[in-house]
Amino acid sequence: MIEFKSVSKRYGDNKAAALAVDNISFTVPTGTLTTLLGPSGCGKTTTLRMIAGLESPTGGEIWMASKQGQSESVIENVTHRAAHERNVSLVFQNYALFPHMSVLANVSYGLKMTNVKKADAKARATLALKNVGLVGFDDRLPSELSGGQQQRVALARALVLEPAVLLFDEPLSNLDAQLRRAMREEIRHLQQRLKLTVAYVTHDLVEALAVSDHIVVMDKGAIAQQGTPQEVFEQPKSEYVKNFLGEAALLRDDIDRFLKWQK
Ligand SMILES: Nc1ncnc2c1ncn2[C@@H]1O[C@H](COP(=O)(O)OP(=O)(O)O)[C@@H](O)[C@H]1O
Ligand SMILES: [Mg+2]
Repeated sequence: MIEFKSVSKRYGDNKAAALAVDNISFTVPTGTLTTLLGPSGCGKTTTLRMIAGLESPTGGEIWMASKQGQSESVIENVTHRAAHERNVSLVFQNYALFPHMSVLANVSYGLKMTNVKKADAKARATLALKNVGLVGFDDRLPSELSGGQQQRVALARALVLEPAVLLFDEPLSNLDAQLRRAMREEIRHLQQRLKLTVAYVTHDLVEALAVSDHIVVMDKGAIAQQGTPQEVFEQPKSEYVKNFLGEAALLRDDIDRFLKWQK
């Protein structure tokens, strides 16, 4: 699991500058998916990068399970630990695949870097590709794949490392609407099937509804509200959250259908 304890982040040395992340506390229990939801600039990516160890907090503490799997996990203070010392993988919105490498080489690359034997790396990469439903494309180059297929490769590349924590930063924003719908369902199924611990960033309300166990609504670096999808959408606690939901009024049908389906 991941735990944020009163974490703040200010970029640069100017003490008068606004906090990018302002005293936030939340947990992502093992095997669940928590979404950071809010408009552009509210601090979602900064929060995710602090989980990954790519930014260090100005204040507060980050605790995390050191190993995958519930029984063996030990919760440790990782606030000052470097990115490579954390068992975390990040999936970006632009997939950053190696263009000159085949699908299989892209997925096994991270294992090669950690000295896994070649045959084992191939077997694990093949399994990861199967897990994301991409079979029969091993020898293709990324340029020979659709956007959705490239996204699956990026997902397989993160999964193959068997990270204790998987991070997604607006992973679907480069896909068209139809594919986005299909992929968010698949990410959710995969997360539940493999019991992955995931922190997921989006500005899209319906996407948050579709994938989350827990939603953290952010406003200018702070947490406006957090809870289950039902709690947030049935009992918005502030005008800010109400307005955020209001902007999605056109999607009300989707939300109603979802809430009915959850019950
Ligand atoms: N590297 C950086 N240096 C200075 N300010 C930054 C940097 N990255 C983000 N910010 C600022 O921090 C705030 C939060 O940004 P970010 O975490 O990227 O928000 P989001 O992902 O929700 O759009 C914004 O005001 C942004 O301009
Ligand atoms: Mg962002």
